[in-house]
Amino acid sequence: TMTRVLVVGSINMDLVVEAERYPRLGETLFGERFASYPGGKGANQAVAAARLGAQVSLLGCVGRDMFGSQLKDALRAEGVDISRLREADVATGLATITLAEGDNAIVVVPGANHQLLPQHLDQDEQAFRDADVVLAQMEVPLATVERAAELAERHGKPFLLNPAPARSLPPELLARTALLTPNEHELALALDADGGDWQALLRRLPGRVAMTRGKDGAYFCRADGGLHHQPGFTVSVVDSTGAGDTFNGALAAFWPQGIEAAMALACAAAALSVTCSGAQSGMPTLAALQDMMKEQA
Ligand code: RIB
Ligand code: NA
Repeated sequence: TMTRVLVVGSINMDLVVEAERYPRLGETLFGERFASYPGGKGANQAVAAARLGAQVSLLGCVGRDMFGSQLKDALRAEGVDISRLREADVATGLATITLAEGDNAIVVVPGANHQLLPQHLDQDEQAFRDADVVLAQMEVPLATVERAAELAERHGKPFLLNPAPARSLPPELLARTALLTPNEHELALALDADGGDWQALLRRLPGRVAMTRGKDGAYFCRADGGLHHQPGFTVSVVDSTGAGDTFNGALAAFWPQGIEAAMALACAAAALSVTCSGAQSGMPTLAALQDMMKEQA
């Protein structure tokens, strides 16, 4: 049976340029390529889960502009339920992404994403009743994420939080989170920890944190404080944008299988996602993921 995933999050148009290196401050460089792709952490995670066979509904907000309608079309084509999507009279969320030196650098302008407010979630409370899992990130207002966590709790649904972009998180929000999925940097900021090793930080949230570590895969702190390591899968990297989102969407889709099984599948899905340009293009279907798992076995 299909997992019903409710995503509360952002929708952006990603404007991606490729250059040989990053420009210095005040410098003008010629780039090699430009392309625009559907993105935004909420939309990316929704698409990742939908490709893997989950039944996905997205609560978000776009502007009444060209990017907004293109992004809605793209989500519809992926089978994501956008019947509750809002529209606002501000620009659709936008990310400018520079790919250079084997990495990416991103500026996000939230625009319409910041018009998704707590009262909108109250109006769509039915979506929380209808979900098996609720998944959110930090590209919509903090108050909206907090309301999502409260509504998930009210309806007894696990709340998964990808704390990206990095920021400090209120303890009440952490307390309502069934699983936090930071990278190393996001974990330190989420817990207001300056320094300290990440293993010690993981043990502050036993049974409730899975930390991603790029090529190294992911770590889960078991309820008894022991660390479970899911090694990464080796692939050739074309564009790592959206790898974390693929991991999160997959974790939500496979949540009923248990965290450690879900992590293995999520790491494999994330690895496949980096083999194509754009945040969403490389996200695997369930069939593609199963093929990869067979090859690795
Ligand atoms: O996580 C990747 C996403 O972050 C991109 O799609 C971009 O929109 C930024 O929000
Ligand atoms: Na990619």
